[in-house]
Amino acid sequence: MALERTLSIIKPDAVGKNLIGAIYNRFETAGFRIVAAKMMHLSTEQAEGFYAEHSERPFFRALVDFMTSGPVMVQALEAENAVRKHRDIMGATNPADALAGTLRADYAETIDENAVHGSDSVESAAREIAYFFADEEICSRTR
Ligand code: TYD
Ligand code: MG
Repeated sequence: MALERTLSIIKPDAVGKNLIGAIYNRFETAGFRIVAAKMMHLSTEQAEGFYAEHSERPFFRALVDFMTSGPVMVQALEAENAVRKHRDIMGATNPADALAGTLRADYAETIDENAVHGSDSVESAAREIAYFFADEEICSRTR
């Protein structure tokens, strides 16, 4: 199986609850390599651009307000089958539906403030990684 990358964001609620280390531990324990990382406080324009696919949804404004409400930790994760594997350890979008032991079940209470983001396909991952990182900022051993 091919080595793959996905884009992860630890959202403002989880950063505010001091969960960066705990979540990084989950990533590393699950076999991901963190190949790029940066802490950012997103501007409205950056959050709107990142979530452009949701711009017509009723929750869009609240989502942008939430994502700009405090710092986020953004990382590219590398593993075999990284996109699917990361979605699995994140759990369902709504924490109420997330399987026990997933990040959202353990660290989030509501669908609108759900602790983590993860790319939903290999194509989205490539776009989302490029949205935040220049090629030379990716520190993969395979480069
Ligand atoms: P989505 O891409 O559907 O979920 P995921 O993050 O699991 O890929 O939605 C993006 C974010 O928008 C989601 O993480 C939280 C927010 N959101 C809401 O606030 N309300 C909703 O009903 C949905 C579907 C999403
Ligand atoms: Mg999504």
